[in-house]
Order: sequence, then C-alpha cells, then structure tokens
Amino acid sequence: MGLKITLSVIKADVGGFIGHGSVHPDMLKNAEEILEQQGKELLVDFFVTNVGDDINLILTHKEGINSEKVHKLAWNTFLSCTEVAKSLKMYGAGQDLLSDAFSGNIKGMGPGIAEMEFEERPSEPVIIFMADKTEPGAWNLPLYKIFADPFNTIGLVIDPKMHSGFCFEVLDLVEDKKVTFSCPEELYDLLIFLGASNRYVVKSVYTKNKEIAAVSSTQKMNQMAGRYVGKDDPVLIVRCQSGLPAVGEVLEPFANPHLVTGWMRGSHYGPLIPVPQKQAVPTRFDGPPRAIAMGFQLANGRLIGPQDLFADVAFDRARQKALKAADYIRQMGPFEPHRLPLDEMEYTTMPQVMEKLKNRFK
Ligand code: F6R
Ligand code: MG
Ligand code: MG
Repeated sequence: MGLKITLSVIKADVGGFIGHGSVHPDMLKNAEEILEQQGKELLVDFFVTNVGDDINLILTHKEGINSEKVHKLAWNTFLSCTEVAKSLKMYGAGQDLLSDAFSGNIKGMGPGIAEMEFEERPSEPVIIFMADKTEPGAWNLPLYKIFADPFNTIGLVIDPKMHSGFCFEVLDLVEDKKVTFSCPEELYDLLIFLGASNRYVVKSVYTKNKEIAAVSSTQKMNQMAGRYVGKDDPVLIVRCQSGLPAVGEVLEPFANPHLVTGWMRGSHYGPLIPVPQKQAVPTRFDGPPRAIAMGFQLANGRLIGPQDLFADVAFDRARQKALKAADYIRQMGPFEPHRLPLDEMEYTTMPQVMEKLKNRFK
C-alpha cells in the first residue's frame, strides 16, 4: 500500500479588492501565515492563491475527506482574512461566511470545497482549476470532453489503460440527488443531464476500477443562503497521466472557450477565459468569467509547483476567441441570451416592477 493522501481545495470570497475584482495581497499573506501557524501538525503542505475575488486554499493532509479539523482550519483562515478585509474596508468583507459559528463541516456554510483521498502513485500530477464569476456547471462541458470525448482525449482510443472509459457521478442541485453514468455505454443519457449545467453538475469522475479521477465543488450558494450572496465560483481537481487523461488532454477543452453563466451580477452568459493567474482579475463588466489551472506534482503529499498551465502561449488564441465572443454577446445588453432567463438571474427587479404595474396589467 502506498501513502494515502487527501487533497482539499477550499475557497471563499471574504472581501474584494477593488469591488469584486481581486483579493488584497495582505489577505493572501494572512491566509499563508494562519495555515503555517495553525496547520503545522495537521497539514502536509499548502498553497494559497486567488482567482478574482476568491481565496483558494490548496491543502494536503492525511485526515481523509470531510475532516472536521481540516475544515475548521480553513474556516478559521477565512475568518481571520475577513478581519484583514474589514480593517482595509475591502468590498463585501466576509460575504461567503454564511454562519456565525463553525459546526463540524464546512459544507453548506458558504465556502466551496472539492476534496479527494487517494493512494499517491509513483508520480502524481494533478491540476487544480479555479474559476471566478461563474458556477459549478461551468466544468460540465470540459469534464465531458476530458473523460468522454475521443476528439479531445485520444487516450480513450489508443491507451489500453483508458479504453474502457470512465464513470460520471452527477448531482441534481435542485433535488439534491445523485446518479452515476458509466461511459461510453451511457453517454447519451449522461449528456441530456450535463447539457443542463445550471441544474445538473458533475460531482466526480472515477475510472472503471473505482479510482478517483476528478472532483468538483458543487455548492449552490444562492440557494444555500436563500438570498443572493454572490456566485458560487467553482473549483475542480483532476488527476492526470498513467491511465488517466494526460495533462494536455485535461487542458485541451479550454482551447475553445465555452459560454457559462455568471459575469456581471451573476446574471449573464459569457465566455470562460483561460488565463494565467496574474490575469485572473475580472474587470470588464465584472468579467468575463475566468479560469486558472495550477499544476502540481505531489511528492509524499508535498505540493511541488505550481506550474501556471494557462500561461502557455498556445492558449493565446483561446483568449482572443473568448474576447471576440465577449464583444459579440455584450451587444445584446439586457436582452437574452446575454442576460439569463428570468428565473436564473441573481438580481431582479421583477417583483417590484410587477407590483407597481399590477393595476395596469389587463
Ligand atoms: C458577480 C459579481 C459582481 C457583482 C456586482 C454588483 O458574481 O460578483 O458582478 O454582482 O459588482 O455587486 P454589488 O451588488 O455588491 O454592488
Ligand atoms: Mg465578491
Ligand atoms: Mg468570486
């Protein structure tokens, strides 16, 4: 038996710099200090980064998933960063911390979380995707391409270790139910759900031998809070190579940016731009939505890296294409399909306008 390692990525927006665009460096420094001090015994390693206004804590440890100790450490880190945010009067300080007190598990309390436990292989390359100004459904299309589309992932065709396909665990965010599809056999069943990415999201992907390959965060925060508190900007962990998709196969879907929900006021469709971490500062119309990809090699749980994978010039054209799509769709202004359908917008004036006009509607 090799070493069992848990990789937890826990994220929260606890204050934006400027508006909802980024995270102040003092907050990131504070997160590092807290993890260094309070995580000494608990963590094997950690890395702190941000995408837009979200702080991402990438943690390795031996506590397994849903560890109270690890979740509490993350919660305390976000609480402490909220204090820094408040002192600098950052925008929306503490916005994702929905509860006043930690109660054992960070799920349902506001922060987003993706975590997996696995036996570290002789070499363990992983990619952590992190996005801002969008939702967990944003990963549906890339995950389908990575693990089920041979036009993206040639390994499905020519690597004997991948030829039997993968299993997708899909979560219904409305009814909170799960279903697993075995692919390629059930590909068409899978796609009727994945195409409705506002409601059905890929929670995890497994090999046919039940080895974990990918896990996403699936919090739907606007529903958790019962009111608008910001978009549930998602994260995704993907293990790569040796019978799993190659690093390049995992990144390839992002070469053709797709449209996702989010952007300004969480109420628009826009292209998901793959960017290097330094460019993860969404300012134009509070966006467009962006994704970063940080690659690590694990070495007995140590995070060797990161390699900023979307910094590759080969993604320059994807960025240009996304910007063209952004210009095009922005022309639609407040009209669908740039603006989301009425029932999906995170902000609306409809009830008030209806109330005002109720006697004039005949
Ligand atoms: C979208 C987002 C921003 C805000 C917008 C208005 O996810 O974070 O587009 O919705 O800047 O923010 P408030 O309502 O805080 O003024
Ligand atoms: Mg924010
Ligand atoms: Mg955000």
